Amino acid sequence: MAYGTQVWITGANGRIGRELTKLLNPMDYEIFATDIDEVDITDSKRVNIFVDINRPDVIINCAGLTDIDNCEKNIETAFRVNAIGAKNLAIAANRINAKIIQLSTDDVFGGDSKTPYREYDLTNPQTVYGKSKALGEEYIKEFSHTYFILRSSWLYGGGNKYVENIIEEGKKNGKVVVASNQIGSPTSSTELAKFILRIIDSYDYGLYHTACEGKCSRKEFAEKVLELANIKADVEEVDNHLDFNKRPSYSALDNFLLSITNIYKFPKWEDALKDYINK
Ligand SMILES: NC(=O)c1ccc[n+]([C@@H]2O[C@H](COP(=O)([O-])OP(=O)(O)OC[C@H]3O[C@@H](n4cnc5c(N)ncnc54)[C@H](OP(=O)(O)O)[C@@H]3O)[C@@H](O)[C@H]2O)c1
Repeated sequence: MAYGTQVWITGANGRIGRELTKLLNPMDYEIFATDIDEVDITDSKRVNIFVDINRPDVIINCAGLTDIDNCEKNIETAFRVNAIGAKNLAIAANRINAKIIQLSTDDVFGGDSKTPYREYDLTNPQTVYGKSKALGEEYIKEFSHTYFILRSSWLYGGGNKYVENIIEEGKKNGKVVVASNQIGSPTSSTELAKFILRIIDSYDYGLYHTACEGKCSRKEFAEKVLELANIKADVEEVDNHLDFNKRPSYSALDNFLLSITNIYKFPKWEDALKDYINK
């Protein structure tokens, strides 16, 4: 894309929003980074005024109500932000012919699969968070033409301290406690942000699974973190871990459409984790 391409990042103070703002080179892009205080995406009037004034070429929606328990307690807010907010942005993007990149999640799946989910698998969200994100996806498809919907999984980094917490717990207690019965595809926020950077310039619109390659259990992930950080500690699995008991038990993603089109290859989760820990 030519110098001066204007990119609007909503939810720019969040984990992915921050990572993305860091990666986008201001020499290549003019960046509008806003969060709820500047533009509340649930306010359609405000969203439309913003696009009319700034005319972004690309809108990257990193805004969301992402805390699963908070979504269960505040159902209306969850749907307002995750679904209506996405709809407002899709309509605005369509009006000014901008691309829209919507971040979505493995929580749109039910967790009852035995193999990594592909883009064509039926969604079956079990939580308010998952249901509101699934409706957000529908709205993006319905109200915009030039969209990317990116489903990712088990994101760490960019302000999410999951890896750091494992290291801290291992050092302090000689033991790390993780949720049992959970399989996913851990993905580094930096790797996701790198992919987003790549598609800003592309026209391969559609829905994609965008996770680091491979899958593991929470235990395998914690063991790998400890190994890479050179810490000797045991990893103990517990049922009904408070932080994760509402997440799908199986949510590994297969980047099927990226792989059959040769658009992009994410690194293996172990390699991305190694990079993250080394940095
Ligand atoms: N983290 C993951 O594991 C993961 C995995 C897959 C997909 N995703 C998706 O990726 C997106 C970003 O995730 P994240 O982890 O970066 O989330 P995050 O850290 O919770 O950031 C979301 C940001 O959106 C802001 N926000 C909330 N309501 C808003 C509104 N009405 N208008 C504008 N901004 C608003 C939040 O502000 P406040 O903090 O003030 O509320 C926060 O700064 C989400 O859509 C999420 O569903 C995340």
